[in-house]
Amino acid sequence: MKRIIIFISGRGSNMEAILKECKNGILRGIAEVVLVFSDKEEAKGLEKAKEFDNKTASISAKGKKRQIFDREVINLLSDYEFDYIVLAGYMRILSDVFIKEYTGKIINIHPADTNFHQGLHAYEWAFKNKLKETKITVHYVNEGVDTGKIIAQATVDLRGAHTLEEVEKRGLAVEHRFYSEVLKEIIRNRD
Ligand code: GAR
Repeated sequence: MKRIIIFISGRGSNMEAILKECKNGILRGIAEVVLVFSDKEEAKGLEKAKEFDNKTASISAKGKKRQIFDREVINLLSDYEFDYIVLAGYMRILSDVFIKEYTGKIINIHPADTNFHQGLHAYEWAFKNKLKETKITVHYVNEGVDTGKIIAQATVDLRGAHTLEEVEKRGLAVEHRFYSEVLKEIIRNRD
């Protein structure tokens, strides 16, 4: 059983999907979530995680230099044994200090093809450019913003999606299924 720490900054719908898959779905007996961490004390997803009886922690990043904050997080994580850090809507760029500490262990989901779009507002980008399809990318995290090695991608059909809300709805539906599928594959391939 692999031990996962999920990082969130907000709503946590991807986190929720993973928690469900660990409890009763395709990750059952394969992965367990040992901690949900947030850089935002008020993140909605933390409440959700507690409802699911998960351990949560947060450290506010407000006003802190990137490396200082990341060292605090590393210090917090040193109390846990874990195999992977799974970023699920974690909206902070990780410093080189953090990446070096956990090389090869940090995984992210990005709601676009990272070859063509990095950073924030990926669904807006797809919508504004009237893309017929977009891609969800699961990738390893390196020092860049969404530049790490791509693990897997899934296509989202955007034909007939006339509002940003519809684009997001279709994308998130794919994200929620796809992230756990890919995590399962990663764990299987490493064992
Ligand atoms: C998701 O769409 C996720 O892919 C995206 O933020 C959203 C978080 O939603 N992440 C990024 O844009 C990272 N660059 P959630 O909190 O409901 O999972």
